[in-house]
Amino acid sequence: MSVSPEAFLSLLKSVASDTETMLGELLTQAPIAGERGRPARLLEAMRYSSLNGGKRIRPLLVVASGNLFGVPRQRSLMAGAALELIHCYSLVHDDLPAMDNDDMRRGRPTTHKAFDEATAILAGDGLLTLAFDVAARPAVHPEAEVRVNLVGALARAAGVGGMVGGQLLDLAAEGRFADGKPRALDEMAIGALQAMKTGALLQFACAAGAILGKASVAERDALDRYGASVGKAFQISDDLLDVEGDSATLGKAAGKDAAAGKATLVGILGVETAKARLKTLVSEAGAALAPFGERAQTLVETAKFIAERGK
Ligand code: IPE
Ligand code: IPE
Ligand code: MG
Ligand code: MG
Ligand code: MG
Repeated sequence: MSVSPEAFLSLLKSVASDTETMLGELLTQAPIAGERGRPARLLEAMRYSSLNGGKRIRPLLVVASGNLFGVPRQRSLMAGAALELIHCYSLVHDDLPAMDNDDMRRGRPTTHKAFDEATAILAGDGLLTLAFDVAARPAVHPEAEVRVNLVGALARAAGVGGMVGGQLLDLAAEGRFADGKPRALDEMAIGALQAMKTGALLQFACAAGAILGKASVAERDALDRYGASVGKAFQISDDLLDVEGDSATLGKAAGKDAAAGKATLVGILGVETAKARLKTLVSEAGAALAPFGERAQTLVETAKFIAERGK
């Protein structure tokens, strides 16, 4: 049974809405056990940075991969919320003047514009730290060993060998730490950079379902391969939107990457080749899911959505 694009969109909508509710409940003004207080300005900036926006594609991937193993939806949503907190923090810091220096995000002023730089840095720090608090909670999984596996995988995807490391490479390619002149990276180097800055968190989203569902090594490998293809597709699509999209639809600045000297595959391959590459990646993602047969149709549809999305 295949999943229609409409059914996929309705699932994405329900995951987005449940994620929104969960994030709202995690970011209450009242402190929780072990906390001393939640400074209102910081909490407000954390809520501003994580609520009311975003496609919530990462939580969707956690739910859809978890569904392959019968993981209860609430557990997947909780793990997805932890991941989304990391993603939102990465955006707040990505937009800072010292990084991409952007004024708009999700159709609104970026956090440092709506508040100030120090508050934005701390809001990012707060979201990052809260993510690990959430991932370690029993609501994610009753077995401590499963939670430890999840937390370890999340840390590795988010940190020096994953997203944070990729962000450093992204800025280094702009020549930020040398003469300010962009470095001409080849396809391999750009692929490695993007696999870190964007791919790692998306790949984790797929692995999360396997970890929560205690998948076999072969099943986990299949999801890792799917996640790697989807991660590559996601950043190519983001880079294409920077070239072809408009700021109003995207809710963030368009047309900045080339001027900033960003190392992108679109930049070195051109738009048409990049689009062809996207198609290949979608079919590679689908092929990786073969072991799951018809059960993986939602993930197949997710890969298509990621490649064809308009924002
Ligand atoms: C944007 O991610 C940043 C990248 C990793 C390219 P998304 O496109 O998922 O952003 P939101 O969460 O939907 O705003
Ligand atoms: C950001 O990539 C990836 C992150 C880890 C946040 P971009 O810098 O291209 O993301 P946008 O275009 O600002 O959303
Ligand atoms: Mg960036
Ligand atoms: Mg950016
Ligand atoms: Mg971008």
